[in-house]
Amino acid sequence: MGNALAVEAVAQDLGTRRVGRCIFLFPSLSSTMDAAHRLAQLGVPEGAVVLAEEQTAGRGRFQRQWHSPPGVNLYLSIVLRPPAEAVRRVNMACSLAVVDTVRQIGGLSPSVKWPNDVRLRGRKVCGILIEGRWEGQSAGWLVVGIGLNVNADFASTPLEDVATSLALETGRLQDRTGVLRSLLRFLDQRYEQALTGYPLWREWQSHLEGLGQPLAVRWGQQVVEGVAEGVTPEGDLIVCQVDGTRAILPTGEVTTHTGVGSAPRTPGARR
Ligand code: BTN
Repeated sequence: MGNALAVEAVAQDLGTRRVGRCIFLFPSLSSTMDAAHRLAQLGVPEGAVVLAEEQTAGRGRFQRQWHSPPGVNLYLSIVLRPPAEAVRRVNMACSLAVVDTVRQIGGLSPSVKWPNDVRLRGRKVCGILIEGRWEGQSAGWLVVGIGLNVNADFASTPLEDVATSLALETGRLQDRTGVLRSLLRFLDQRYEQALTGYPLWREWQSHLEGLGQPLAVRWGQQVVEGVAEGVTPEGDLIVCQVDGTRAILPTGEVTTHTGVGSAPRTPGARR
């Protein structure tokens, strides 16, 4: 286990407007998502962050497990209360903030696998899970969960070919506290952009993998096949289908044509 996260030091000089205004760190949680939802319900301010040194039931998209060993990575959930018109831009804001953070380390070129995996050399370094709670007309919230592989070593594990970490990619252990500080600052900046209507999609699209290439997107019970052309200002994927019509896909799972028919394997996650 590496050094413990020094969240007091992060909180002292963060200088953000919203994200990280209060930070909760737990040695172990089942999932930071559940703790963040509970705190949101109790009325924590927007931007509250819940971190855990390990998760015993970390979860990913499609109910997959998220591998969350102690002391090596970052597992956090952030409570956001965006107005309705900004909700759909939060996904782009968060994945761009992760891209910013990874790029700042130097020498790394992260890409985004739609809708929100961040990858290095084709392997997943970060997964993002966004859950919303709205009850009737009452004001709701989003919890954004981020699992960033900082110092995990996936060598000789079943995830070796699909997952990576900042340490594996740079060849040196990274300071998790420093990475956390950068991530929270970038999240704050990108979230501000999402709120003010800045065209995040242009930059986000420039990091997207697979544009112009054939793909298959699992969407509910359907599989949409075609060529990914780009994204809408909300980050929906525009797919030109085999029959020439366009499909606009708000969420889903992108796999290559060879992956159609089998459940796609998510790097960084365990099934
Ligand atoms: C995915 O790629 O499927 C999303 C993975 C999200 C993992 C993070 S780790 C912190 C937060 N707590 C969880 O239980 N999940 C998210």
